Amino acid sequence: MATSSGTSTSAILTKAMTESSAKETASTPINDGLMRGFWYPALRSNRVQGREMRTAMLLGIPLVLGRNSKGEGFALRDACPHRGMPLSEGNFDGSAVECPYHGWVFEGKTGQCQAIPSLTAHDKLKVDRVFAASFPCEEQDGYIWVFIPDPDHCDEAVPEAPRLPTFSDSYRLEHLEAELPCHMDHGIIGLMDPAHGPFVHQSWWWRKRSSIHEKEKTFEPIPNGFRIKAHSPSANSAAYKLLGVYGEPITTTIQFVLPNMRFEEIHCGKYWFSSRTTVTPITTTRCRIDVCAAWNAFRYVPFFTSILRFFGNMFVEQDRLTMVKQAEGLKHNPPLMLIDDADRPAKWYFALKAAYLKSKQTGQPMEHPIEGPTALHWRS
Ligand code: FES
Ligand SMILES: [Fe+2]
Repeated sequence: MATSSGTSTSAILTKAMTESSAKETASTPINDGLMRGFWYPALRSNRVQGREMRTAMLLGIPLVLGRNSKGEGFALRDACPHRGMPLSEGNFDGSAVECPYHGWVFEGKTGQCQAIPSLTAHDKLKVDRVFAASFPCEEQDGYIWVFIPDPDHCDEAVPEAPRLPTFSDSYRLEHLEAELPCHMDHGIIGLMDPAHGPFVHQSWWWRKRSSIHEKEKTFEPIPNGFRIKAHSPSANSAAYKLLGVYGEPITTTIQFVLPNMRFEEIHCGKYWFSSRTTVTPITTTRCRIDVCAAWNAFRYVPFFTSILRFFGNMFVEQDRLTMVKQAEGLKHNPPLMLIDDADRPAKWYFALKAAYLKSKQTGQPMEHPIEGPTALHWRS
């Protein structure tokens, strides 16, 4: 395997990490390596029931989430615009939130103020011109998604919230999550890192160190990301082992899309498995992995979901424990390096981010850092 000094990318990496190690703050410094102008999953839908309000944090912004009497989700900054009291400490009547400090009332969806009890006929303040900060909010795939706008491009239209691709009317849908004590960049490059498998995910049924062998995969550019061309999974992959029983050719596609999504699709005749893993920035030093998976295979096999859940949890937990240890090493900003080809996807991630931000700044179309199909080689 060729190694490269990777100077420029490691400089980007070290710089991003140094900036990101700034202590947590509720404000959003612009050089924190987090991406605005995107949707992020804030909470699982089932955690917001009835008139209960729930809190979440995205990109260092504290949020209060709820659902109005029509069942529509809403997200407000969890700080009253009067004197900063968390609105989550107040009351929600199914339509509006009342702050517990001085009783100001804010409509849930828009954040528009409806009442300021201390005002008298002598006051000129226009109540309806006061707003609690509100964020676009949608439910999809069992999550409440919140759109975090880019403060420099607030006037841009809000795109649709991401949706997990599915390929038949009925399927199973499952979720897993794990919190990581690191900047989202480390979560993401950990997600697309092919070389850690035999070391972190060793097990008798999956792979051993001795099963390491050379791999070649062709990557190609897609809008805002890249994908591994559809290929048949290797004989020691879980998909191959499981779906092999159907006796049909199996193809798998993996893609990464900014800001934080890894999609994997496996097809075997009429059967399919589709998953999306997102790494969501909670603050600059914490992120959360959310795995959302849907499939129509093995739906009548007893306990299949429980078994998949067990192994899924085990995988995610192995990654989480690894990143908890890695976070210790990263605390004091050591210099880091990315090597070819095993870390090329990580280099592309940083290059994609930089190209995206540059196109936002200049207003020019994004220059994609990957020119065309490229074969990468590594041993894992
Ligand atoms: S702090 Fe909320 S009403 Fe005063
Ligand atoms: Fe992993």
